[in-house]
Order: sequence, then structure tokens, then C-alpha cells
Amino acid sequence: MSVAFAERFAMPAVVHGPRPVISFHGVSKVYGNHVVALREVDLAIHQGDFCFLVGASGAGKSTLVRLLIREETPSTGRIFVEGDEITRMARRKLPKLRRRFGIVFQDYKLLANRTVAQNVAFALQVTRPGQRHLREKVEEVLWIVGLEDKLDKFPDELSGGEQQRVAIARALVHRPHIFVADEPTGNLDPDTSWGIVQLLLQINHRGTTVLMATHNREIVDLVRRRVIAVEQGRVVRDEAQGSYLRPGDATL
Ligand SMILES: Nc1ncnc2c1ncn2[C@@H]1O[C@H](COP(=O)(O)OP(=O)(O)OP(=O)(O)O)[C@@H](O)[C@H]1O
Ligand SMILES: [Mg+2]
Repeated sequence: MSVAFAERFAMPAVVHGPRPVISFHGVSKVYGNHVVALREVDLAIHQGDFCFLVGASGAGKSTLVRLLIREETPSTGRIFVEGDEITRMARRKLPKLRRRFGIVFQDYKLLANRTVAQNVAFALQVTRPGQRHLREKVEEVLWIVGLEDKLDKFPDELSGGEQQRVAIARALVHRPHIFVADEPTGNLDPDTSWGIVQLLLQINHRGTTVLMATHNREIVDLVRRRVIAVEQGRVVRDEAQGSYLRPGDATL
């Protein structure tokens, strides 16, 4: 962890206040095809939490993530982010809401015809035109993710793990309060996956709340952080230092 990272990205000392940074109240989601993806989900996540979201394929993890970043709206229930009810938020306020999140998915979605530095800079230019000290900010986040020597490479010159680090840098450059990762290690080998999770733990260590949906049993069991398990749209388990499976479960 660099000093620059600590200074620039540190949040004030975290004291768990009574109000969570994220809360779901009786949230259900029924898609247009009548699939019930989430059922009556209640959830509270506090600043500085690191949460794994686990569950079988189709359990509702990505739906929960998409509702949180207001890519989808719930069929019933309410969701609050840092005190704002996002389920009722006007469309014009959504760009500002999304800037509170750093978002990373399984596929890195990098722009193939732009360099690493340009990919990160582009994210900042789109959301905050006229940003000052752009190059410095870009270099700094790429240094944080350990890619300071790859600034001028194109995505297809990088390994999968390096591409995911660029995606993380791109998400970090906004200095998000909440980092949301949906299967960020889904396409990566075990060692590279571990490196990505270490990076998310470092980000969390500075006070950023992290929510990571994953199928990676080994990582969840090694890291032993909060585990929220979803099964057929319901939160069936929420443990402070949880494991991927409940003892006695056969498989997920
Ligand atoms: N846009 C959509 N329209 C209709 N149904 C959807 C849509 N997205 C997801 N679903 C359905 O909702 C349910 C939950 O899907 P979701 O993607 O949230 O699961 P998941 O836990 O993320 O699964 P995975 O581990 O495979 O990523 C599934 O039955 C899925 O088929
Ligand atoms: Mg998913």
C-alpha cells in the first residue's frame, strides 16, 4: 500500500454509525419474463465492510448488484445508498449516484483501441469533463494497481489479470466510496485471482466499502470476511466471518 494511496484515498476514520451505507428493505425483483430473481431481501452494509456475495448460478447475485447501482429498479421494496433512496431517484441524478461506485465486472470492457492510460483517463473525462491533473491521477491509480510500467500498452498486449487491474484502476479513479465487483476473478487463474482479491482488500483497508459477488470458494474460505449467501433470490445466510458453504452443505 503506497503512501500516496493512503493519503488520497483514505476515508475518515471509520466508526460504524447507526446508518448503513447500503440498505435493502423488502426488495423483490421480478423480471419481465416473470422470473422472480430476488425475494424480500433485507440487507444492511456499513462503511468499511468487505462482503462476499455467494450463491449458485441464477441465485440473484448480479440482480442484487444491478439494483444497487440502479441499472435495474426493484419490483417492490426500497434501497438506500448513503442515506438517499435510490429507488426513487430522478434519472438526472443517476450519473452522480454512479460516481459513488467503483464497478468492476467479469469481462473487463476495456476500449481495445486505447492504451491503458487512455482507458483510465477516458473514464474520468466522460464523467468529469475538464478534470485537472488528469495525467497525474491516471498514473497514480495505475501505480496503485501495479501497472505503472504498462501505461502505453494496448489491452490486447496485457494478460487477463492485468486487464482486470486496468478495469479496477478505471473504477478507482473516481475515488468511489463503494466498490462493487461482480465475479471479478471469473476469467482468471487462481494465482491471478488471488492478486485481484488482495487489491480489493487493500482498497477496503483504506475505508472503501467492498461488495464482491463470486463463485470462488477458495478465496472466500481463505479471506474469511462477511459472507452473504443468496439462494433462489433469498438471502439465506449472512455471517461476519463466513465461509463459502454452510458446514454440512454438499455444494452450491
Ligand atoms: N435481464 C433479465 N431478464 C430476465 N431474467 C433475468 C435477467 N437477468 C437475470 N435474469 C434471471 O434472474 C435470475 C437471477 O439471475 P442473476 O443474473 O441475478 O443470477 P446470478 O446469481 O448472478 O448468477 P451467476 O452466478 O450465473 O452470475 C436467473 O433466473 C436469471 O435467469
Ligand atoms: Mg451473476
